[in-house]
Amino acid sequence: MTRSVILGTGMAVPDRIVTNDELAAVMDTTDEWITQRTGIRQRHWVREGETGVDLAERASRRAIAASGLADGDIDAIVLATSTPDHFAPGNGVLLQHRLGLGPIPALDVRAQCSGFIYALATADAYIRGGLFRHVLVVGQEVQSTGLDASTAGRATAVIFADGAGAVVLGPSAGEDRGILGFDLHSDGAFADKLWVDAPGSMYHPRISPVLMAQGRHWLHMDGKEVFRHAVVRMPESVRAVLTGVGESLEGVTLLVPHQANLRISEMVQKTLGLRDDQVYNNIMSYGNTTAATIPIALDECARAGRLKAGDLVVGTAFGSGFMWGSVALRW
Ligand code: UT7
Repeated sequence: MTRSVILGTGMAVPDRIVTNDELAAVMDTTDEWITQRTGIRQRHWVREGETGVDLAERASRRAIAASGLADGDIDAIVLATSTPDHFAPGNGVLLQHRLGLGPIPALDVRAQCSGFIYALATADAYIRGGLFRHVLVVGQEVQSTGLDASTAGRATAVIFADGAGAVVLGPSAGEDRGILGFDLHSDGAFADKLWVDAPGSMYHPRISPVLMAQGRHWLHMDGKEVFRHAVVRMPESVRAVLTGVGESLEGVTLLVPHQANLRISEMVQKTLGLRDDQVYNNIMSYGNTTAATIPIALDECARAGRLKAGDLVVGTAFGSGFMWGSVALRW
């Protein structure tokens, strides 16, 4: 059976770093609160005029270069974002145009924090089904422009951030490695626990001074509820994906959890009984970049030589939707 393998990785974040102290200057929070409750020490936010497609382009060019493929070898784009530059069309086509890849298909996936896992599953199915050979898979987010950076929005504003990560996925050349399987779920009963209500087509007009005065255009989160579900669902999903592919927790070289909150990652690690060297966290430097956290982490690990051929890598995510899931792969 053809498996799809990660041929190259890339990432990009805005060069503007926002420290906890900078946030404390504009809202009632402290570096101590943010560090203790979330693990975050700094995050990257776009400057005026810098867009999600800018970040996606930089990450994608690095991933394509790392893959050793030519631009013309990319057959399709699957881009996960919950924060597209525009209501429509999605950022996938804007990226296709920006990269100058020709009229290849480009699809947006809207699965928020779990977006990269869902995008990878889509691309993997395309490749295994023989529809495309090489698929550029991107997780990209600009959250900062949708955050209420005042005391009223402090529970979300200190967490979410901007960034992009990308991988090039292609068929294995017969070697025993690549994506082994997925575990994917959703439960829309919790949609309003972490959401952006407007603009939305149920409102006419989709955005208005009234909606904005009500703060419906900001990202809203019931942090405690999300936290409570995340620390159960992520371990459950990791166990499920491993069982599905006939592997065990002992064999996991590296778990890359969605970087939502360091306390969540630590609880997931504890629940699964994993050692420190089996779990990768970088939320301290980047905050929660939603669909971008896992591909950014994969790129950091790949470039740092942390992953060797044959290593068992598991990615897991939980977030808005609720949507959650995991991937298991042999590097
Ligand atoms: O990307 C995937 C989805 N996202 C997540 O998985 C995030 C899940 N949730 C969380 O990470 C945590 O719930 C938060 C970090 C958002 C909040 O941490 P918490 O320990 O659950 O705090 P809390 O919401 O219970 O708030 C505790 C207190 C409250 O004050 P009172 O009511 O006890 O007086 C908040 O108003 O902390 C206050 N608070 C803050 N204080 C200083 C909330 N945000 C802040 C802040 N600075 N930034």
